[in-house]
Amino acid sequence: MRVLSGIQPTGRQHIGNYFGAMRQHLQLQADHEGFYFIADYHALTSGPTAKELAGYSHDIALDYLALGLDTEKTVFWRQSDVPEVTELAWILSCVTPMGLLQRCTSYKDKLANGFSPSHGLFAYPVLQAADILIFDSELVPVGADQKQHIEITRDIAGYFNNTYGEIFILPKEHIIKSVAIVPGVDGKKMSKSYNNTIEIFGAEKSVKKTIMRIVTDSTPVEEPKDPENCNVFALLKLVASEDELKEWDSKYRNGGMGYGDAKKRLAELMIEYFKPYREKRAQLEKDPKYVQDVLADGARRAKAAAVKTMLRVRKAVGFGAYNV
Ligand code: ADP
Ligand code: TRP
Repeated sequence: MRVLSGIQPTGRQHIGNYFGAMRQHLQLQADHEGFYFIADYHALTSGPTAKELAGYSHDIALDYLALGLDTEKTVFWRQSDVPEVTELAWILSCVTPMGLLQRCTSYKDKLANGFSPSHGLFAYPVLQAADILIFDSELVPVGADQKQHIEITRDIAGYFNNTYGEIFILPKEHIIKSVAIVPGVDGKKMSKSYNNTIEIFGAEKSVKKTIMRIVTDSTPVEEPKDPENCNVFALLKLVASEDELKEWDSKYRNGGMGYGDAKKRLAELMIEYFKPYREKRAQLEKDPKYVQDVLADGARRAKAAAVKTMLRVRKAVGFGAYNV
């Protein structure tokens, strides 16, 4: 089955991105045909400087490669290297009712969080639909916040097919496996936009410092504590072994444990968890040419698949094959 997902280069990746999305992408590549891309056209909607966009794109490429992306099996590219998706996005725009986009909650959320209301931001879901449909994707693993975008994709494919015939194979199922939301150090959803992240590849010292800042309640050391309502425990669940987690669960419930102890252990485990990947990333960082070659190869493979679909689409709408 073809599995596709995109990740926006809008900042340094954090453990919410890893446990919520990236880890799953990497696991799925074993049994499926993985198509993963750096969604830089989408990232443009948040108004980065050229330097930021280029830097974050390179960072994400390094992150995925260090975390175990299999470059032989999986197609990995930068979205803007396959501009055919923007052509498809335009064509899909012409069958997309305004009302469908006006109902989109992520647009409203982003305005509420200070994004400027550009046409690109409004049309964001149409470009995402193009990403998914141009590659005949069957599974789209994303976090729960992306569910509406996948539903919109199916709607848009339906409108297109009703108008022009069965061009897009409506995937039998789009699996949206959602993991529990990973909390940030302030207890809100961990997000690049909230300045509350623990970076996957932050310097060890700063990871420790950030973890020690995690907000907890003010239950005194000697009193029992509720692990299920604790941000530190929620993060321990991601990295501690089952046995160790049970121990912490009792320590919380029995009282006599300070949150500082749990935080210290969390920092150790978190650093240990990412250690091998950190070493791999440091190696890759020394070889920018390698990263460039991987992305160029990915772009070639992605483009071949995209052009195949576009020929189908262009014929259906009356453009016919490209003259050049
Ligand atoms: P951010 O909110 O940091 O900007 P993105 O919107 O770029 O993150 O999300 C990239 C992917 O990571 C999405 O699939 C999203 O669902 C997932 N993700 C982001 N933050 C979290 C979180 N705190 N918990 C679980 N998954 C998350
Ligand atoms: N909107 C997604 C996010 O913010 C990123 C994305 C862009 C994407 N195009 C996609 C995800 C296509 C899945 C499929 O996380």
